[in-house]
Amino acid sequence: MVKGTSLRGFWSSRLAFVLAVSGSAVGLGNIWRFPFMVGENGGGAFVLFYILCVFAIGLPIMISEVMIGRRGRRNPIATMRIVGEEEGSHAAWSLVGVMGIVAGFLILSFYSVIGAWTIAYLGHSLAGSFSHLPKEEIHDLFEALQANPLKVVVLHTIFMTLTVVIVGRGVERGLEKLVRFLMPALVFLLGLLLVYSIVAADFARGVEFLFRANFDALTPAGMLMAMGQAFFTLSLGMGAIMAYGAYLPEGTSISRTSFAVVVVDTMIAIVSGLIIFPIVFASGLDPAQGPGLLFETLPLAFGSMPWGWLLGPLFFALLLFAAWTSAIGLLEPAVAWSVESHGLSRRSVAIVIGVLIWALGLLTVFSFNLLADVRIFGGTLFDNIDHLASNVLLPLGGLLITVFGGWVMCKNSSADELDIGTGPAYRTWRFLARWVAPLSVLLVFLHAAGILSALGLV
Ligand code: PFF
Repeated sequence: MVKGTSLRGFWSSRLAFVLAVSGSAVGLGNIWRFPFMVGENGGGAFVLFYILCVFAIGLPIMISEVMIGRRGRRNPIATMRIVGEEEGSHAAWSLVGVMGIVAGFLILSFYSVIGAWTIAYLGHSLAGSFSHLPKEEIHDLFEALQANPLKVVVLHTIFMTLTVVIVGRGVERGLEKLVRFLMPALVFLLGLLLVYSIVAADFARGVEFLFRANFDALTPAGMLMAMGQAFFTLSLGMGAIMAYGAYLPEGTSISRTSFAVVVVDTMIAIVSGLIIFPIVFASGLDPAQGPGLLFETLPLAFGSMPWGWLLGPLFFALLLFAAWTSAIGLLEPAVAWSVESHGLSRRSVAIVIGVLIWALGLLTVFSFNLLADVRIFGGTLFDNIDHLASNVLLPLGGLLITVFGGWVMCKNSSADELDIGTGPAYRTWRFLARWVAPLSVLLVFLHAAGILSALGLV
């Protein structure tokens, strides 16, 4: 008999769960965001710090998040409240779920716009627009897209519609079928592109840039971004993974599953860097050019490689699917909460929330054209929305989630849920979840706020 039953369905198998969580984790964060963040933050030291964050902070938090989700078996807000009460703590823990829903709103609002760019590039690649174009014209192609907000708004509408349709149908019916095919196909295609970068681009310089660590180049703000990227890429700290954990059957190993997802996700990000930076250096592009990096490098490769006319459309189609499966994870917590707590129909809730997020997304669309000159804290509106969600709300949510899993849940509950006994593996997780992860998040926050240096500690 399954413990903690609720009205929700279960994943049909462990593999289905792994695929769905990796479908949420692997997305634009790995292929678009990771390389441009690395480029903006000087390369190797950022990458090493990011990897450290992924394993020391991200992995224990992912385990905590799935564990809490399976314990509560409801949407993140109800789960945090119910498990909190069960453990003799406060119902106010549900605020973590609320914060996660806000973060999901903010992230999906810009995520969908990058999804829109991806659709535009799928169109370009199908039309053969990259064929033998010099880098200046590839750059112009990107500029032309940004100069056409109407087109981006239309594509943003299409992307949000695609997301709302799947979430409106229900995750069990929609998502599982999709990821089963698409993830392996994406990995295969990235493998092909990697071969291109090894053979035809400046692979040695790309590797050097990614892995040679110059710690002087890593600022406190860069460390915060690396940590934010670890949360973003693993979909942590906002209840998305908790919502998926709610569908996980008993008897599936949470720790092994989480470890597999974290490794796959990190490898995909690194491989994306190994594809993009050799092209950057071989073509004399600027690694620090920002959000356009992916869209100004890969078309160069597709334009000149054999079979580029075929691989280009395939790549952008798969990137679109990867973005889509992640967008579904971003929308799911808010929809699950409205359905379960207010008894509203899944479909109408998905539409209403989708429209609100779409409207917020217009700010990102216009950050690259009409409102490009509007600056807050030195960044565009998009920069600020991304920063608030990824570098503040996600790590803060993750911090609270790991404190909950490590401190609020008693030893019996977490040992029971994780089902790995109470030996070294369990003790390692508990130590990381109680001490290492929360303190690291706190230190990075304090460092970025300049408090450590004001105290003369660094
Ligand atoms: N992890 C996704 C990516 O790397 O593209 C982004 C994301 C999806 C973040 C779902 C958060 C989330 F809940």
